[in-house]
Amino acid sequence: MRSKYLTNVTDLTKLINKDIIKEGCVVIDATVGNGYDTQYLAEKVGNTGKVYGFDIQKEAIENTKKRLEKEKLFNNVTLILDGHENMDKYINEKVDSIFFNLGYLPKLDHNIKTKADTTIAALKKSLDLLKKNGILSICIYLGHDGGVEEKEAIEDLLFNLEQKNFDVLKCSFKNQKNNPPQLILVEKKVD
Ligand SMILES: C[S@@+](CC[C@H](N)C(=O)[O-])C[C@H]1O[C@@H](n2cnc3c(N)ncnc32)[C@H](O)[C@@H]1O
Repeated sequence: MRSKYLTNVTDLTKLINKDIIKEGCVVIDATVGNGYDTQYLAEKVGNTGKVYGFDIQKEAIENTKKRLEKEKLFNNVTLILDGHENMDKYINEKVDSIFFNLGYLPKLDHNIKTKADTTIAALKKSLDLLKKNGILSICIYLGHDGGVEEKEAIEDLLFNLEQKNFDVLKCSFKNQKNNPPQLILVEKKVD
């Protein structure tokens, strides 16, 4: 059987976060979209944990709310119809893990997508909000207009973080054609 981790950066993200995100953790889904990641996070943190989810599209938030209610997972999730660049307005506590799954939602308007300036603003706030040993995971897609610019801005920010404060890891497929997705992981080493 093939390993799904060698084809899919979102599954690899979950593998790396497997032991970090536990019952009772506080986590952020910075790009809710269809709610697959939000559901995964809500299941992992359980009733004693908390998930904050952001998206700028009303349809994404509404569809995710329905998905979570169906699965009886809505109690521990706060869905916020606003940009992740404003996350500090809604979150007044430190968090264990933050997921960014960038780009656009395939089933909705492809012109509504993450952008370098707001992504960078959100990542800076994420670095502040993370607990010691908390993990920031960013799935990056290059195939859309602005995707390369966004990736370069992200790398410029994260690859220059002080090693005493953060570990930064990048994973990318080396022989896949057509702009395969990339994953950057950051662990915070200080409070
Ligand atoms: C690739 S999709 C996310 C997929 C999602 N994680 C899932 O499990 O289905 C990217 C999402 O980012 C959202 N988005 C774009 N700009 C945003 C912003 N500034 N803040 C929050 N969400 C944003 C889009 O509306 C879109 O739904």
